[in-house]
Amino acid sequence: MARWRNLLAVAAAAVTAATMGAIASPAAAAPPDPGGGVVSPQVVGGTRATQGEFPFMVRLSMGCGGALYSSRLVLTAAHCVGATGANTSITATLGVVDLQSSSGRIQVRSNYVYRAPGYNGNGKDWALIRLDTPVTTLPTLRIATTSAYDTGTFTIAGWGSASEGGSQQRYLLKATVPFVSDTTCNSRTMYNGSVIASDEICAGYTQGGVDTCQGDSGGPMFRRDNANAWIQVGIVSWGAGCARPNKPGVYSQVSYFASNIASAAASLGG
Ligand code: ARG
Repeated sequence: MARWRNLLAVAAAAVTAATMGAIASPAAAAPPDPGGGVVSPQVVGGTRATQGEFPFMVRLSMGCGGALYSSRLVLTAAHCVGATGANTSITATLGVVDLQSSSGRIQVRSNYVYRAPGYNGNGKDWALIRLDTPVTTLPTLRIATTSAYDTGTFTIAGWGSASEGGSQQRYLLKATVPFVSDTTCNSRTMYNGSVIASDEICAGYTQGGVDTCQGDSGGPMFRRDNANAWIQVGIVSWGAGCARPNKPGVYSQVSYFASNIASAAASLGG
């Protein structure tokens, strides 16, 4: 039920964001409100990322996030895209934390979308977008191919709402969230069995306050690997509201899909 309600909210958010285009609207351009709310107003509970801190971050024009998987491919969420096939309707913005900055900003159009086979709104929430022009000046984000990194503290980042129901952000926000086990995440007080243990991974604080939110979908959740390099462990997928107590963020578990993602990438030309 929580999942169903959330997906409806996502669809609405995506439509709204699509009308905004790749560049943030005036509303989204408003500086983060430091007001006295319970939740601090960034990614929900985050702070601004510095220019170049997460150079693999991608903003997609339908109002989602993504990560640069290869020079031609962006890894995002299935619920952010339409069916598999030729698609020139998406604009990817890369290379900047400020979506309105003209210096260093790269904007590239899509030419193909590959949505996870069998995606039906329940799990399998991953997709690849092929860019019309390769982006060779930015580093890619490696995906976890084993579950070894599916624990610990994760970094989340995105241009989505900084509070539940809030506007999209002009500046990239970041935060860290702890891993939540499937058992805990599926407990009665949390998602009561609606998390797919095999292909989803939860992260957040029991008390809430820090989370991804609408518009962050498709973006990466990542951490450092043993060589201190960033490695992607999750894709922002869903949650009940944002940053609520006992409602962690739910992410596609990248390690579970890693070989499927790699084969799909190869079929798209790498
Ligand atoms: N599905 C949302 C989107 O389209 C992201 C939801 C993440 N929610 C959360 N509480 N972590 O942007």
